[in-house]
Amino acid sequence: MAVSLGLEDVFIKYTGLTYIDGNAGVLRYRGYDVNDLVQNSPFEEVCYLMINGELPNGQQLEEFKKSIKEHYKLPDHVTELISDLPREADTLTMMETAFASLSSGDYQWNKENDRKQVPKILGENLGIISNIYRHKMGMALQNPDTKYDYAEAFLRNCFGKADDKKISAMNAALVIYVDHEVPASTTAALVASSTLSDMYSCITAATAALKGPLHGGAAEAAYKQLLDIGSVDNVDNWFKTNIVDGKRRLMGFGHRVYRTYDPRMKIFKKLATTLDQTAEQKRLFEIAVKLEELGVKEFGAKGIYPNTDYYSGIVFNEIGFPIYMFTTLFGFSRVLGWLAHVTEYVEEEERLIRPRAVYTGPDRRDFVKMKERN
Ligand code: CMC
Repeated sequence: MAVSLGLEDVFIKYTGLTYIDGNAGVLRYRGYDVNDLVQNSPFEEVCYLMINGELPNGQQLEEFKKSIKEHYKLPDHVTELISDLPREADTLTMMETAFASLSSGDYQWNKENDRKQVPKILGENLGIISNIYRHKMGMALQNPDTKYDYAEAFLRNCFGKADDKKISAMNAALVIYVDHEVPASTTAALVASSTLSDMYSCITAATAALKGPLHGGAAEAAYKQLLDIGSVDNVDNWFKTNIVDGKRRLMGFGHRVYRTYDPRMKIFKKLATTLDQTAEQKRLFEIAVKLEELGVKEFGAKGIYPNTDYYSGIVFNEIGFPIYMFTTLFGFSRVLGWLAHVTEYVEEEERLIRPRAVYTGPDRRDFVKMKERN
């Protein structure tokens, strides 16, 4: 019996959402190239596209934004719950807890209705993630200001201010991370949805799967590598000791689907230089560029290239976020991808996801009573 470890090359659904050509390094949402969307679209427009299948006209976009803003204000119990969590808790755990608490309301799974819930969940998402940051920083929790659109409202609720360059970079990051077909977190969301669990619980399941360093946690791990290296002069030595001889994985490199440069990584790399850099951020960027060269030289022939998480931490840090927010910022955007896949699956292809395992344990054994065991 053949087992596909890691479900490699197993197709679990049909999708009209995201197309990846892993050999050519192409990523499209609903047929539109990710580069075009990053350059032209506010995050809300991409969300509308993913959920409704087409780009909105001006009026549709304004109505969609309005329906998200109606839910910027978090229910009181969620705000209280976040502020009661220990500040040392990691931000993904806080995200899981906040979304899990929303599933306990009067909302019931209903496939005719779920797509209409997406703007509400996006609004709540903005309140949750910005307030997780506020809580970690010891600030009082507050609702995002409905005067502002998504990326700007988020930065303002975190930092109290936002300039155009940072808003644009935040918007780009949101668009870049919005969906990526069926990685581990989306698959976890789909497994939960296939049991007809509710959408908030699907987000909680997905967030748990996002956390690890092989998936969403890679941005944090990749950034910590740069801190560990410390200086451009130490890159060669660090690479040889840790990666070539030490056989450690180069974090931010490799992907199950891409066999060339991840197109999202190229966007993040460019963004890192368009934002203002402190001397420390400039140094980390230079280390990253040199490490990238060595990594591609060593692993390129095996189809292992830098992925989206290689430079994203640098960008998030230049926007103003500490390391502990990186994975959660990935999740902040990907909530939409999870919802888009879950609604697509439940509306069009609903079937319980229940794979099998090949048994390799002992044959039938006679039960041994406690007093007869050694
Ligand atoms: N550094 C060194 N070697 C690597 C790396 C890496 N980053 N990634 C894969 N390999 C090697 C691995 O050692 C193995 O070699 P061999 O065949 O000689 O044993 C071969 O490539 C295949 O590895 P695999 O783990 O079976 O491949 P996979 O498709 O399961 O791995 C991956 C995908 C992303 C888990 C892996 O590339 C990895 O661990 N990368 C580092 C973590 C990372 O950056 N994750 C972010 C992924 S992109 C964003 C996201 O979707 O979350």
